[in-house]
Parts: sequence; C-alpha cells; structure tokens
Amino acid sequence: MYTNKKILKWFDKEKRNLPWRNSNKSNIDTYKVWISEIMLQQTKVNAVIPYFQKFINKFPDINSLASSSLEDVLSYWAGLGYYSRARNVHKCADIIVTQYNGSFPKTEKELIKLPGIGDYTASAICAIAYNEFAIAVDINIERVISRIYNKHNLKREDIKSLIKKIIPIDRPGDFTEALMDLGSMICKARQPNCLNCPVNSICKTYLENKEALIKVIKTNKIKHIRYGNCYIVSRDTDKKLFFIRRPNNGLLGGMLSFPSSKWLEDKNKLHNEKLFEDFIKNNKPLHVVNHIFSHFKLILNIYNLKISNSIHIEGEWIELNEAFQQLPSLMKKVAKIII
Ligand code: ADE
Repeated sequence: MYTNKKILKWFDKEKRNLPWRNSNKSNIDTYKVWISEIMLQQTKVNAVIPYFQKFINKFPDINSLASSSLEDVLSYWAGLGYYSRARNVHKCADIIVTQYNGSFPKTEKELIKLPGIGDYTASAICAIAYNEFAIAVDINIERVISRIYNKHNLKREDIKSLIKKIIPIDRPGDFTEALMDLGSMICKARQPNCLNCPVNSICKTYLENKEALIKVIKTNKIKHIRYGNCYIVSRDTDKKLFFIRRPNNGLLGGMLSFPSSKWLEDKNKLHNEKLFEDFIKNNKPLHVVNHIFSHFKLILNIYNLKISNSIHIEGEWIELNEAFQQLPSLMKKVAKIII
C-alpha cells in the first residue's frame, strides 16, 4: 500500500474529534476552519478547544464577528495570548463582509492578502475547507515528512516538494489533517510511538536511522528578565477598580489591563518611571507576580493603591468581576491577589 493510503486509512479510524472538524465534508464551514487555524497558529490544540467553542458560540459567523466591537472580540481571546491575532481576525472579518460580500476568497493568492493570513494559513484553508490541492506545512507535518524520508533539516520548500509527491488529489484536506494528527498523536517530537505508527514499515528514519528519533532535549534557554510595577487602583466611592487599554502596537496589545509602568531590563531604572511615583516612594509592593512570555520573564511588583481624587490617565473604572474575563493571563494573576 502507498504511503498516502496507509496514512489516510489510519486517519479514517483514529482521527481526533475536534470541534472545527465536520464529518459531513460537503458542509465544511470556512469561517470555522479559518478561526481554528488562526487560534492554532501559536497555541496547542487542547488549549484552543475551549476558546474556540466559546468564540463560535458568541460569534457564530462572519457577519456577527464583523459587527462586533474589537473590545468584545479581544475579551473572547483573553488568555489565549498573541492578541494581534484577534485584532487581525476582527479586521479580516470586516474586509470579508465589506469587500467580498461575506464569502472567503477561494484562492491562496487572494487569501494571503488578508490580515493575519500567511502562507501556511492560506494553504491550510484551501486544503481543509475547499479540499484544494494546497500544501500546508506546520511543525508537526514537517517532522512527519522529515522522518518518513529520513531527510532532516530540510527547508520548508523542500518539505512541500516531498508532500506534493504523495498528497492524494481527491483528499488533500484529509491528508493534511492526517499528517497533523499523526505528528501530534504518534510521530511526536519526543518519544514517538513507532510501534503503532501506520507507516513504520516504510519510514526511513525508523528503518535506517533510529538514533535520529531520540531527540536531544533542548534545555530551555535562559530567558531575559524584565521588571515592572503594576497598580491595583481602587477608590472609596464604590467597589470599582481602574483599568487601562494597552496600546495596540505592544505586548498584550489592545487588552484591558491594570495600569503598569514600562517593563524594563534594568530594574534600577524603574525608579525613573513617573506613574504613581510618589506612592511608590512611600509604599512597599503588596505582592510580586512572575510571568513567562515567549521571549522573556516578567517580574512585576504589585502595588495596592486607594485614591480619593481623580486620576489623570486614560482608562475606566470597572468592577473586578465584570473585568476579570476580559483580562489577559498575566493580569488575571494580578487580580487573583485580591480575590
Ligand atoms: N494544527 C493546526 N491546524 C490543525 C488542524 N486543522 N487540526 C489539528 N491540528 C492542527
């Protein structure tokens, strides 16, 4: 049996039941495929599932998404990270509705022009939603193909050429998802389950180069550390706390947040930060929160500040239980200090 037949046979039996997949192939919803692929760009399947379900319940189609506010969309993305994805999803929905009459374009060339849709996502949408002959390569697929051919450290384009040779013209979408499932369920980066692999009789790495399957475990690189101050600001007139929206172009862009200083590599420079400087001089932090971002670790001093006069920064007063769901993970950690 050919490689692709073996893989599809395995997929037909073992595929994951994921909420963006539809067993009725003639009824695939491009909107759901698109949202899932954007969420899966930087986040693992298990983490995506609950977010995807809540998002689709709230915004069931492109029109409901396009007519919602950005703040509403961001609040349903809160906790998933990489918030430029949510801003792009909102922008993209508006373009689809206003310029494409509510229907996604049908070609990779057109899809790739849309915000947040790169080479991989355009191919994944064409293959999975349209069953077009398009080659999507993510890290799982790359690993499976490299191992089957025992060709490691290939460039993406070389991986694509190898896939082109085996992708079946009648089921390119299923084949793409089959490679994804194989990569995440069997052909894992560490400790692949070769004994139960549907292609173990033809996998060149398994047959000829087993030592390449024992992945050198990368020690986590030491992360840079940044330091900041963060302020839980309350007032005595009611139970509300003060929140700001972070600037769109930075980390946690557009998200609701407690006010914070800049996050600096040199903690001694925190003294130069002007926000609530008199308060910091005379008070100690209530708590310290550590948080890991993809490229640095953040250590935040949390101050609890009660004010009776007005506040001169842009933001809004909101009750914590109303704000909580809208907060990114870091700010949820901060909020939990006082819950
Ligand atoms: N990772 C990225 N896209 C995926 C999909 N459609 N199914 C499973 N895992 C994925």
